[in-house]
Amino acid sequence: VTLEARIEALFAAEPAALADPFSVYDDVRAAGRVFELGPTVLLTHYDDVKWALREGDRLSNKALSEGSRVEATRARFSGDARDAFDEVIAFEANFVSRTDGADHDRLRRIAHRAFTPRRIAELEAATRRYADELLATLAEQETADVMVLAYRLPLMIVADLLGVPEADRELIHAWSEKLGAANASTDPGPYLEARVAIREFRAYLDEMLDRHRREPDSTDLVAVLMDAEGDERMNADELAALYVQILFAGHETTTNLIGAGLLGLLRHPDEWRALTQDRTLIPLAVEELMRFVTPTQFVSRLAVEEIELAGVAIPEGRTILAVLAGAHRDAAVFADPGRLDVRRPEGRQQLGFGFGPHFCLGSALARLEAQVVLDLLARRFPHLALAADTVEWEGSAMLRHLTCLPVAWGDNK
Ligand code: HEM
Repeated sequence: VTLEARIEALFAAEPAALADPFSVYDDVRAAGRVFELGPTVLLTHYDDVKWALREGDRLSNKALSEGSRVEATRARFSGDARDAFDEVIAFEANFVSRTDGADHDRLRRIAHRAFTPRRIAELEAATRRYADELLATLAEQETADVMVLAYRLPLMIVADLLGVPEADRELIHAWSEKLGAANASTDPGPYLEARVAIREFRAYLDEMLDRHRREPDSTDLVAVLMDAEGDERMNADELAALYVQILFAGHETTTNLIGAGLLGLLRHPDEWRALTQDRTLIPLAVEELMRFVTPTQFVSRLAVEEIELAGVAIPEGRTILAVLAGAHRDAAVFADPGRLDVRRPEGRQQLGFGFGPHFCLGSALARLEAQVVLDLLARRFPHLALAADTVEWEGSAMLRHLTCLPVAWGDNK
């Protein structure tokens, strides 16, 4: 099997390929600094990936709205499917992560209002309470699927952050699933469903906006975001996109960090034991798990002009994947990169939350959630163990996730 075919299998989200993306990216890295695959260029060396994340002038963040890769997908569709594709792409073009320059600065400043230290502190208390509750329910079972916890907790937190009432959590979650399924899909079906989800979501948010207009003194997130002044204002399309973006960006990524992170630890029992014996290691361990797991495996950029890199001319309009999962196994930065080491001193150099102008707005929240869960488990279940020999992955090459993660609690309930 050629390397190209292995990458294609990964991008097509074949479960066997999703089980081990790192070995594919290792081979891509070994092949050189710039790897060209059809309409896409892959970067897998740490320094190149970091350059791409930092480069805000010659690289654009609109790679999922326009450019060679989007055009290649669009060309596969016709009629209503193409209309749906265009509507979904146009809606998502308002995501903070898909904007550049002045638009990005403005949207990012507004989005920042959702993440004040006070809000994060409030969410910390909620995180502990929810994690306790979820764990209590799971611990009643002999063996349990901890993906339930890894999945529910970030959803509950992100819903709280957005001011979505408990009763509506499932509703918004179903919409976000539909949008997620269309993300980078090359089939028309998911785009048709995503279009419906966007329209329903817009209607839901319009109601929130109406409520806000009726109660101008409210202090909910809609109020906080919409009451920006002058040049800092945002329109209803941008508000809707920001809600969806936060839902997306904050949910499954964190689920992955917690779920796949725990899998890594339980497959390296010495590392797990180290955490149970010294819980002050947990913050550094979370950095190492960000590296080891790489919840978001790559981010996309677009060359706004011809760029020469390592002697290769990357043409204008070409889509570039900055493969974080590749950078995280680069032995030039991480010694013995395939090894999970919760004490790894260079763990803090991980790029899993990005770097530079688009650095993750929710990193404090994600770190908090992972730390709370690990602390709780290490304290209450030091003998936690995997209860399955194999696990399965699904999702996409960008965001793969475990189907389930059965654990046995050990004797220390
Ligand atoms: C382990 C969990 C998480 C991972 C791995 C992660 C990863 C990332 C990465 C790699 C980027 C940079 C994208 C780029 O450069 O194009 C990013 C941006 C972003 N993240 Fe996160 N994220 C996580 C959790 C969260 C949470 C919990 C939230 C919100 C509640 C969030 C909100 C955002 C937003 C709004 C952006 C866009 C920032 C911008 O473009 O300026 N993320 N994230």
